[in-house]
Amino acid sequence: MLGIIGVIRNRVSRLPLGLQSHINRVEEIAARLSDSNGVDPDLGRLGALCHDVARAMPDSELLSRASDMNMDICTIERDIPMLLHGPVGSEIVRIEDGVEDESILNAVYWHTTGSDTLDEIGKIVFLADKLDPQKNKKYPYQKYLYELAGSNLDLAMFEFLRREVDSLIQRGNQVHPRMMESRDYFSQLV
Ligand SMILES: [Fe+2]
Ligand SMILES: [Fe+2]
Repeated sequence: MLGIIGVIRNRVSRLPLGLQSHINRVEEIAARLSDSNGVDPDLGRLGALCHDVARAMPDSELLSRASDMNMDICTIERDIPMLLHGPVGSEIVRIEDGVEDESILNAVYWHTTGSDTLDEIGKIVFLADKLDPQKNKKYPYQKYLYELAGSNLDLAMFEFLRREVDSLIQRGNQVHPRMMESRDYFSQLV
């Protein structure tokens, strides 16, 4: 585990500084959430370190990488290629860095939209990303979300997804179909 964490830290050190800072904050939050949910904090750290490795990639490269990786690219991902940074990042750390843990790969893949396939680590990485204090203007309910995430990951997922889908619709933005499905899935668990 420590070996692979070092490999990913090295990759992160080559990303733009602002993105590195975000990833480092998410890493600490993911470690704390792992602890309070009885999950190995090193797994939380690894998922967080991997989650945004493709976040700084230009749209054209995200599209070409996704197509080289034989991914199905849906309409909203053609319009907003940034939505592909999770799937592409997951494939990059698998192929180029040797990350094999399916739980980590799945967490990275779905950290933007959520998914009914997320396990505890996947939910922790998803939520830790949204709990970065620098996103407090975007998500002013972070304190409440953090409290929920410490004890009930499914409820925290639902509360975030419900608010986020509503907010995107209210602002006239497209919503990824997978995010709608995730919201509906977590609504049934709470
Ligand atoms: Fe991301
Ligand atoms: Fe992120």
